[in-house]
Amino acid sequence: MRLKGKVAIVSGAGTIRPGMGNGRATAILFAKEGAKVACVDKNLSSAQETADIIKAQGGEAIAMQADVTQEKEAKALIQAVVSEYGKLDILFNNVGVGFGSAGLKVSEEDWDTIMSTNLKGILFLSKYAIPEMAKYGGGAIVNNSSGASFVAHQIYAYSTSKAGVNALTRCLAVGAAKYNVRVNCVAPGLIETPMVQPVMGEKRDYAITTRVPMKRHGKPEEVAYAVLFLASDEASYITGQTLSVDGGVSVF
Ligand SMILES: NC(=O)c1ccc[n+]([C@@H]2O[C@H](COP(=O)([O-])OP(=O)(O)OC[C@H]3O[C@@H](n4cnc5c(N)ncnc54)[C@H](O)[C@@H]3O)[C@@H](O)[C@H]2O)c1
Repeated sequence: MRLKGKVAIVSGAGTIRPGMGNGRATAILFAKEGAKVACVDKNLSSAQETADIIKAQGGEAIAMQADVTQEKEAKALIQAVVSEYGKLDILFNNVGVGFGSAGLKVSEEDWDTIMSTNLKGILFLSKYAIPEMAKYGGGAIVNNSSGASFVAHQIYAYSTSKAGVNALTRCLAVGAAKYNVRVNCVAPGLIETPMVQPVMGEKRDYAITTRVPMKRHGKPEEVAYAVLFLASDEASYITGQTLSVDGGVSVF
């Protein structure tokens, strides 16, 4: 019960296709560790599925709908969670998308959607979460970056937006330190989630065997344990950091 008594928000707690995503796995783990979890997604039925899994396991959760790229919705969401559960301790900014044409073939629309989705949700949810966390002595924010933030990924907008997540994490960490709010991010490598299903197959298997020292995909549950650590009081002197969860890709 590493999060006993804590109230947490997980954004992108649903999945775009049936299965286990990073947000869903983390919401489930947070609840197992004693947190009350607000499962947030723009797709309410998918968030509800996550909340139902948690409740079926005896945990406490609520599903909420929000498009986190819209400041008004982000603000209303934070207020709704605080009025439901009385406070806010943990925010996992997990929402993220990566699609579109490789390299300079990216369309303006795809570039804007990826940059907006991957960065604005973190900014707006943090903006309204930090003052609420401060009221009860502090809290922890974990953002979902990517190994693509360190290298030249073929989807330029994704790589660039995730490098932005690392930078925004550091900015938020320094700004929020005076409120005892810690801000870190995880940088997952190749994780088997519904988001990457379309690019699974031969090409990805090749990447796994040639680029991943541990020679396998990661599982969303393995990302969840890293997020849990950074969100818990065990990481009480860690802020502004990016933790790779990638089977060794980033050091190979
Ligand atoms: N799967 C991987 O290999 C991998 C690797 C590195 C990083 N990541 C990151 O992990 C995070 C989650 O990825 P996943 O693979 O679990 O994906 P997923 O697509 O299964 O889950 C993402 C969820 O976010 C929701 N969402 C999208 N835009 C939203 C918005 N504007 N407002 C609210 N909800 C929104 C979607 O509806 C979906 O349910 C992303 O940030 C992704 O970049 C994934």
